Amino acid sequence: MKITVVGAGNVGATCAQVIAQKDYASEVVLLDIKSGIAEGKALDIWQTAPINGYGTRVRGVTDDYAATAGSTVAVITSGLPRKPGMSRDDLISTNAAIVRSVTQNLIRHSPDVILIVVSNPLDVMTYCAYRTAGIPSSRVFGMAGILDTARYNAFLAEALGCSPKDIQSMLMGGHGDTMVPLPRYTTVAGIPVTELIDQERLQAIIERTKKGGGEIVNLLGTSAWYAPGAAAALMTEAIAKDEHRIFPCCAWLTGQYGLNNIYMGVPVKLGRNGIEQILELRLNEDELRLVHQSAAAVKEVMDVLDRMMQTA
Ligand code: LAC
Repeated sequence: MKITVVGAGNVGATCAQVIAQKDYASEVVLLDIKSGIAEGKALDIWQTAPINGYGTRVRGVTDDYAATAGSTVAVITSGLPRKPGMSRDDLISTNAAIVRSVTQNLIRHSPDVILIVVSNPLDVMTYCAYRTAGIPSSRVFGMAGILDTARYNAFLAEALGCSPKDIQSMLMGGHGDTMVPLPRYTTVAGIPVTELIDQERLQAIIERTKKGGGEIVNLLGTSAWYAPGAAAALMTEAIAKDEHRIFPCCAWLTGQYGLNNIYMGVPVKLGRNGIEQILELRLNEDELRLVHQSAAAVKEVMDVLDRMMQTA
């Protein structure tokens, strides 16, 4: 099985490395537009194979989409990352042009590919790939919820002094400050989180989660890569191994939660064919209101993209 990762920046290289290390793919192709970058990073990753004990062949190419032909999954990480003071939405025009051209090239060489979008602004770039690709929405979706719940779970583990392995949670909405972590769907070893932490501390963790990406941008001067790369790799694994895992992913909604024609984070089941099912939780009124608020924020940026694509 061949997996392509487009963009050999920090997120793409991390994603390729995590995929390779799990040893389920025969080949990972890392592609970048800048000459030598993907080749260099792929060579370095491949040289960890004897050390870490895996067989996945990692290959880097410069803008050579023929090398990606026949990919089962392609992860799109291309585009500019955020700088301090920028919102993810500030990246829209630059990154839309990049995501559009990457998508066209991928589909040309791998018509059956499943696309996982990681570029920001995430929900809208996923929509851009979907509009461009002309393939079913079950094969075009975005990585955000796994990253956002990972942040939430990590903060909770720290606060509770417990292992992050025991925390399960769900989060919905766009990948921005309006995202909606769901305490009612958060458990620690099966115990509702609300039995273990007081409301005030939980609310502080929710607020920190919503700005979790920005916290790292402020520290580093650019956006995060270890957790985003690993999160995209986890989605790839669920598809490659046909695991039917349930994750929050950015998916195309056609009436679920009263939302239509919008890409946004919802719980989905992922397997070999991509999104097998969108799960509809019985949200209460407050939760649904927050989800709809988040949807409205995403829709505004989607409309900007629609107008851009009409005039392009
Ligand atoms: C973040 C970026 C990748 O949340 O969106 O860190």
